[in-house]
Amino acid sequence: MNKNHFYITTPIYYVNDQAHLGTAYSTVIADILNRYHQLFGENTFFLSGVDEHGQKCEQAAKAKNLSPQEHCDQMSALFQKAWAELGVNYNMFLRTSSSQHKKLVQKIVQNLYDKGDIYSSNYKGWYCISEEIFYTEKDLVDGKSPSGKEVTYIEEKNYFFKMSKYQKALIKHLDDNPKFIRPAHRQNEIKSFLKKQLQDLCISRPKKRLSWGVELPFDKDYVIYVWVDALINYLTGINYLEDDASFQKYWKQAGATHLIGKDILMIHGVYWPCLLMALNLELPKTIFAHGWLLNKSQEKMSKSQGEKLDPLELAKDLGVEELRYFLAREIPLGNDAYVSRSLMVRRINQDLSDQLGNMLSRLARLVEKNYSGKIIKPTLESSDCSDSHSFKQKTEALSQQVKHKIENYQLSESLQDIMNLLTELNRYLEQQAPWKTVKTDLEQAAVVLYNALEVLRICSILLYPVMPKKIEQILDLLGEKPTWENLQWGRLPLGKNLSHPAAIFPRIQD
Ligand code: MSP
Repeated sequence: MNKNHFYITTPIYYVNDQAHLGTAYSTVIADILNRYHQLFGENTFFLSGVDEHGQKCEQAAKAKNLSPQEHCDQMSALFQKAWAELGVNYNMFLRTSSSQHKKLVQKIVQNLYDKGDIYSSNYKGWYCISEEIFYTEKDLVDGKSPSGKEVTYIEEKNYFFKMSKYQKALIKHLDDNPKFIRPAHRQNEIKSFLKKQLQDLCISRPKKRLSWGVELPFDKDYVIYVWVDALINYLTGINYLEDDASFQKYWKQAGATHLIGKDILMIHGVYWPCLLMALNLELPKTIFAHGWLLNKSQEKMSKSQGEKLDPLELAKDLGVEELRYFLAREIPLGNDAYVSRSLMVRRINQDLSDQLGNMLSRLARLVEKNYSGKIIKPTLESSDCSDSHSFKQKTEALSQQVKHKIENYQLSESLQDIMNLLTELNRYLEQQAPWKTVKTDLEQAAVVLYNALEVLRICSILLYPVMPKKIEQILDLLGEKPTWENLQWGRLPLGKNLSHPAAIFPRIQD
């Protein structure tokens, strides 16, 4: 059977600072979505990396008395270490200072130049180093960038990409593809932005101001504007112009899914599609803009601002996979959310310790005490039992529902559905009280236990992409690998030893 393909990317992060909870959020969510698509049986490619050029990086290196390359080497290693500690498993970690990437950026910019889509002109306006974005006088709010960052005035000869030429085609693409940018209100934002005439895009910086960048192939006195360089990473990552099979599968067949923060929507929703149209390339399938993690003052959490939540410290303190669960479950994708350690503790204790972990240990204890620790086959055919029948239907519906919701970026909602079935199972156990019936009717209790373990097994497989290591521990007890086929009812391995596990999700003190 021909497998479907799936290609997901994170933004590539600036190396002026280390990973923080905000950047960890994008990366962990992309990892989880990627792992869900693997569970659905797809061939996936997951790309992340770092954005190493530009003024911001050059300044950070200077402050540390390092060459930009030395600084990037250090920071890039730190990012990779952080992602490994957070259980992130990408196919490629891309560095924009790599020669493969620089070569592709030059080829692409040369193509645009040869095509007549690049011209030189005088640039007069403002530049925000923190965002690496050009602003016109009209864009400024109280002398700062629209998000309140410092800007400096520049006047210099530069090269421009004829972005305005593609405005009409982009508007048509948005009209024809209502799910191009998600959530839907983000697509509307871009549509209303496009009601105004688009400016052409400045795509160079003179070397005398900034030397740390990819040289402009047709003018050695310039480097390429860092955002153009950065966006092209999505093509380098799948070996565009080098490995056609990979490009066909992931760019053409699957279509890219760019998971980004809402702060960089304009660049991904306008600059990037215009560049791709100029190159005659397919546009991404989806650009999904998630919201911000906020601090107490309701500001975007960042390394430099306000209280710092360090993802690696939190992972040590609460558990890596518990933190991943919190990020995925607590915040509906697309929304902003205030996050704090107490909220994390509450959510983790409530869902993972009290619900999932507790259910496993109660069931294991019952099996251990009454059935010599072996998973039992009820002689009463479980298909004859109406409870089994109803749970079978519910788990089948749940699997389909989770798939549908994940494909629609409703990650938090699908985790809630899984937890809801566990709550229902809990109610069933309270009603049936197998710990009582086991004394008088071993057979009846066996049916109840079988149903419960089977629901627990299936819910665990559905949680695997979020918490792969912990769920593996559970599935070691309940048997079978976390695959889509094994979501089928009735695959609980009978006769297997179900020893009582050490607490998989110990309660955390607030
Ligand atoms: N280098 C550019 C992206 C280039 S992509 C071709 C950049 N880098 S960044 O280091 O500033 O990272 C930005 C991304 O980090 C945001 O788009 C968002 O995905 C994530 N986040 C940073 N802070 C965040 C929060 N407080 N909350 C959620 N995500 C945030 O922009």
